[in-house]
Amino acid sequence: MYNSKITGLGYYVPDNVVSNDDLSKIMDTNDEWIQERTGIKERRHVVPEQDTTTSMGVKAAKVAIERAGIDKDDIDFIVFATLSPDYYFPGPGVLVQRDLGIKTVGALDVRNQCSGFVYALSVADQYIKSGMYKNILVIGSELHSRGLDMTTRGRAVSVIFGDGAGAAVLSREEDTTKGVLSTHLHSEGQHAEELSLIAPGMGKRWVTDILEENDPQDESYYPHMNGQFVFKNAVVRFSEVILEGLKANNLQPTDIDLLVPHQANLRISQFIQKQFGLADDQVFNNIMKYGNTTAASIPIALTEAWEAGKIKSGDLVVLAAFGSGFTWGSAIIKW
Ligand SMILES: CC(C)(COP(=O)(O)OP(=O)(O)OC[C@H]1O[C@@H](n2cnc3c(N)ncnc32)[C@H](O)[C@@H]1OP(=O)(O)O)[C@@H](O)C(=O)NCCC(=O)NCCS
Repeated sequence: MYNSKITGLGYYVPDNVVSNDDLSKIMDTNDEWIQERTGIKERRHVVPEQDTTTSMGVKAAKVAIERAGIDKDDIDFIVFATLSPDYYFPGPGVLVQRDLGIKTVGALDVRNQCSGFVYALSVADQYIKSGMYKNILVIGSELHSRGLDMTTRGRAVSVIFGDGAGAAVLSREEDTTKGVLSTHLHSEGQHAEELSLIAPGMGKRWVTDILEENDPQDESYYPHMNGQFVFKNAVVRFSEVILEGLKANNLQPTDIDLLVPHQANLRISQFIQKQFGLADDQVFNNIMKYGNTTAASIPIALTEAWEAGKIKSGDLVVLAAFGSGFTWGSAIIKW
């Protein structure tokens, strides 16, 4: 039996900083509203033609691989989580294999939005636990900015999301008291449309329908979010899935050294922090700087926390996410 452990972490965000004041110049919004509701001060947007979901993922991956102290050819498998792929198909996993010049290993794409990284980590963990692979590259990368409604109509969604990528190398760990102790995944498709992007899709509206209708009022190709409903579900599911993970390992909330929640909304993180009685330095938040980067948010936050020396060997690190699907999940890690 093996465990998997994170041996390398990296992230990349575009240089282009977009502040709340910048947004208020192109839509009817303001810094006060955004900060009060979400905690976000600024986010990054790619400069078109300079970065893609894949290129950001590749940049983050290079750092993670170097820090893991392995060669790219030691990577046995790639798992790429995103809701904003470069192409409708193929997914970005194979583009990473190509762009990093990795030999012809398998590349899997995960479509679980804000829970994408926890799902991807869970998949990688199972492959390592089973003994099938030794080193797996797990990437979460998102390019939201090109697909948001940047007018007043879309403001409840577009102010929240940002671009960026994070990556982790998961490697075989022979000591099964260390590394990823367990992961816990859930979904509730009943609420699929409450946080969704419906078109283009083969189910309802394909590109040809959109072109044919040529309707300037069409919102179906912008993300839709029932904000308050998402918020209410998020706080419940976050705490449920953290408790589930702790219980599975006979641990208590007081055993947590660092909680790295998906950066959905600072208010959600603060709610969870209070519920679990955690101190400010036990919950890592960086949504203020990057907004919600969906599948990239946990690996970016984890990397920043690690770089800041907030994670030491032996620490209990808990990852938790909730998002579109609805999907949610947690990972309990002994560093
Ligand atoms: C999105 C969210 C911040 C909206 O906050 P809210 O308090 O629910 O706000 P509402 O949507 O009810 O809108 C309140 C008012 O603000 C307005 N508003 C919406 N977006 C705005 C913006 N960016 N700037 C200024 N005003 C805005 C609305 O039009 C509405 O105006 P009205 O009262 O005149 O109709 C909040 O619901 C939320 O954080 N939900 C969870 C989102 C999340 O975490 N998503 C990711 C999950 S992974």
